[in-house]
Amino acid sequence: MRFLILRILTHSELGMFHEYRRQGKEGSKQRAVNFDWDVVDRVFPAAKDSDRIDMNLKYDTDKGIAEKKHWLKRQEKNWRLEGNCPTDKCYHFVVPGCLFAMEVDAGTSPASGSWAVFPAKSPVTKAILADGESSRLAKSAMIALHDEEGEHTWEILADARPDLFMSQQKGHAIKVPAAKIGNKGVELPPNPARLVKILASVGHTLPSAVADLVDNAISADATNIAITFGRPDSGHGRWLTIADNGKGMDGAKLAEAMRIGSASEYEDNALGKYGYGLKGASWSQAKVFTVATKCEGKPPHHLTWDADDMAGWIAKSDALEPWEQKATVIDKHGTVVLWKDMRPPQAMPTARGLDPHSAEIMLLERHLALVFHRFLEGKAAGRKAIVITINGTPIEPNNPVGHPLVSAYDLKTIRIPTEAGDGKVQVQAYLLPTEDEISNFHKAGGPEAVRRALDLIGLHGKRNETQGLFIYRHDRLIKWGGWHQMWDTNDEKTKLARVIVNFDKNLDDALKINISKQIVQLPQQLQAEIKKIADVARRESQKKYRKEVSPPPPPPPPKGGPGGGPGPKPEPQPPGPRGPILNPPPRPETPPRVAVKPVKTGKFVWKVTKGITGTRDLQVSDLDPSLSALVKQIAGDPYAIAHLSAFLDGLDEVDVQKYLLARKNN
Ligand SMILES: Nc1ncnc2c1ncn2[C@@H]1O[C@H](COP(=O)(O)OP(=O)(O)OP(=O)(O)O)[C@@H](O)[C@H]1O
Ligand SMILES: [Mg+2]
Repeated sequence: MRFLILRILTHSELGMFHEYRRQGKEGSKQRAVNFDWDVVDRVFPAAKDSDRIDMNLKYDTDKGIAEKKHWLKRQEKNWRLEGNCPTDKCYHFVVPGCLFAMEVDAGTSPASGSWAVFPAKSPVTKAILADGESSRLAKSAMIALHDEEGEHTWEILADARPDLFMSQQKGHAIKVPAAKIGNKGVELPPNPARLVKILASVGHTLPSAVADLVDNAISADATNIAITFGRPDSGHGRWLTIADNGKGMDGAKLAEAMRIGSASEYEDNALGKYGYGLKGASWSQAKVFTVATKCEGKPPHHLTWDADDMAGWIAKSDALEPWEQKATVIDKHGTVVLWKDMRPPQAMPTARGLDPHSAEIMLLERHLALVFHRFLEGKAAGRKAIVITINGTPIEPNNPVGHPLVSAYDLKTIRIPTEAGDGKVQVQAYLLPTEDEISNFHKAGGPEAVRRALDLIGLHGKRNETQGLFIYRHDRLIKWGGWHQMWDTNDEKTKLARVIVNFDKNLDDALKINISKQIVQLPQQLQAEIKKIADVARRESQKKYRKEVSPPPPPPPPKGGPGGGPGPKPEPQPPGPRGPILNPPPRPETPPRVAVKPVKTGKFVWKVTKGITGTRDLQVSDLDPSLSALVKQIAGDPYAIAHLSAFLDGLDEVDVQKYLLARKNN
């Protein structure tokens, strides 16, 4: 967890140095360097907002290098480095534009490191700012470079000040295997370090990489998968383990498993395919990974790949450190993968009330809850129910069509001709309940139950993007959201439609599944069939959407009043899709908020737009005098305006404006 932090100092921060103050240049009373919150999030992800982050830092003094306790303290808008205002004369040169550089090892608490300030015109500052590694300083006042991200900058600093900055040079300089000229040509073994970098860039995030290892555990018949994401400041840096109680591997199988492009015999419902997932997923997140494994009644084995020490392509079987041994203990049988020296994401996730490390755990939990929901629910074909825990807490499944108010259409099987015979794809459309229906359904459980139900079905604030297809391969969700090439946009009105697509490995080639199993291409024939099935749910969603945003009808005339009959009979409801009968949306007591704006434009007669908070805007141009007159007339009646905007919205669905505008232009 070593970072290099760079900042161009500003006038207000230079009050930290007595020399600056003595020269009468101080502008404000601030006596500390500012630390941007995103830098602190990345370097100290487990720190809570209320924390003081302690550091023992070396720095220049008039008497040579000294070490002093510093700390970062949270302010309203950022953090500040406090604890030391140097009185030393050696800082006489500080002016705005100087480069502040800090090296910090954040893997321990307190953290340790060093800092120095370089004049703006010094060769060090110039060389650092001339290198691409500093590019983000053009946008941010401060950047944190992790490990290789700051390789060159580190070299410049270590050359200039070896007493303060450590060289990044690794103990094992990797020799590039020599080319051997033979009779038939030149033998060119790959450069392992570079190859690993290329292999690591398959486009994984932490959750998708962990999911790749969960695939392996499930394929090995595990029923219990325990993920431990260690605190990054507990002395071992950023590390994670995935332990399963599957059948484990013997020594030979483990060796083959560590090979890039390993050969395996796959069972019918295995989730693996390429012999690459374990390596690609691990290197995408970590420099070093160890696989420890044990078959029932046999001794355990382990092997380690270290991206910095791949000479000769030898996976190491060296003894593990005591903490690693503890983290990879296996009971009767199973496998543990340990990721060490994990790379932090460029931008740490943030969530209200959570430190970035906990926010990462939350995102991981949400991803696995969705991707493996059928396995967690015990509904995956031919598999027992599994339990996945993160740091001891079990993950609850999140079935995207699992809410009791979701209604299902008929399941259809589509045949896709392949070289090996027919492949089958099962497709089923679903209609989700509206937000009002969900709120009503969970009302008795209180606002928290309502919020949680909405959050789960909307896949945590992504309700609009997650309309469309949910594609499963052997019951594992591999891709979700969007309508592929069938419809271009995720229209708000079709957001209640989801379509489940199931296929198995016989169709891998036809569906062009990629190596990280995150991309599929649906054949034209299949999309044509899905389009028909999806169309019904999409139309129904549009209908429900219109109903939901329409204002309530005027109250019925009072019963038994003068000339009053028994009141109007309720309209018979058209039969909905197959499935549970849906509750009608509750009638709002207050009319929907519609803001009316008269506008001068020749582009439209009216335009209805919906804001994210549920408000609507109705813009009316002067192209149609009777419409603008009507709007003026009813502007004071919110119900009438809401009726009108719903009516105009309906006309837009059948493209009426196109004809009106064409008529106006002729
Ligand atoms: N947790 C595990 N338990 C038992 N065997 C495992 C485990 N993880 C990996 N293996 C073995 O190692 C092999 C290689 O795994 P890897 O993930 O690299 O490739 P794969 O699963 O075969 O294919 P894919 O690239 O599609 O994931 C697997 O086929 C399996 O035999
Ligand atoms: Mg795999």
